[in-house]
Amino acid sequence: MSVEATAPGKVILFGEHSVVYKGPAIVLAIDKRAKVNVNRRQDKRIYFDSLDLGFAGFFEDENYIPVKGETWRGRRLEALRVSAFKTMEQLDVESGLDLIIRSEIPIAAGLGSSAAICVAIVAAVGELFDGGLSKREICDLAYEGEKVVHGTPSGVDNNISTFGGILRYERGAEMERFELEGSLPFVIGNSKRKRSTRRLVGRVRALREREPDLVDEVIDSMAEVSRKGLEALVKRDLPRLGDLMNINHGLLSSLGVSIAKLDLMVHASRGAGAYGAKLTGAGGGGCMIALSERSKMGAIQKAIQRCRGDPHVIDVSYEGVKTRRLE
Ligand code: PMV
Repeated sequence: MSVEATAPGKVILFGEHSVVYKGPAIVLAIDKRAKVNVNRRQDKRIYFDSLDLGFAGFFEDENYIPVKGETWRGRRLEALRVSAFKTMEQLDVESGLDLIIRSEIPIAAGLGSSAAICVAIVAAVGELFDGGLSKREICDLAYEGEKVVHGTPSGVDNNISTFGGILRYERGAEMERFELEGSLPFVIGNSKRKRSTRRLVGRVRALREREPDLVDEVIDSMAEVSRKGLEALVKRDLPRLGDLMNINHGLLSSLGVSIAKLDLMVHASRGAGAYGAKLTGAGGGGCMIALSERSKMGAIQKAIQRCRGDPHVIDVSYEGVKTRRLE
């Protein structure tokens, strides 16, 4: 028997960086998913093959032996192994595995690809061994993998990928999940520049050490934008959401996490009629997000392309992780 599991990526609508210190982040699951197929192996190897991420190789104990795509080493792969291994450990089974990974979510772009892959691995391996894992257990096991990639991440990526929908996340508070009526499409523009969340969070921390009063004021404002953003989202007040996204982009820029290409795509999207646009995620590369009426989305996508960005229309997805047995 083999099992397939899929899990969604995410975008942060409000609260990136400020959430590290204060206030909520508002995060949406998106209709781009990672997919994992798993089968048992007769030996003890954990074998990974990713058709669209360009790597294949296996772990023998903790040693990775690449078969294809030598550059795929280190923490990202280790996260995949840890997700599979911890799941088997929890279920008290020992087995070799063949895992095939596919993903529609661009990697290292702030769209939660690593969490979506970890969540899908845990769910697939859990189902393969009839583990009856709850969504909460899947989420917590995937967090073990996420920790390998990101140190001590907030946990928002594995939560959104497991449960789907819209999450309000704030340190020290219960996560709240929302669902809205109907669709909520956005255009995202991928700068195609990879970046490290760890490094950008470190950069903001260093700036805050040099200029604590000023940076704290910016963070306070961002936290306020995020709270107001959730109100506007729930009321579907798109013009106000757009204004708040524009303000948020300015605040993020003031912390030095934007780059020229993100700024270009943000301004080009506004010029093409968006209600608002901002970078999303850690910045330094990765993606921006623009909100507009559906009729303007074609023009916004073209504007992003003219800036040499890669545009996608995305929608909120209320479907979290899903598994399916294949005979
Ligand atoms: O890794 P990204 O691009 O989704 O950004 C994470 C959001 C930050 O606020 C920058 C970091 C964090 O852990 O909350």
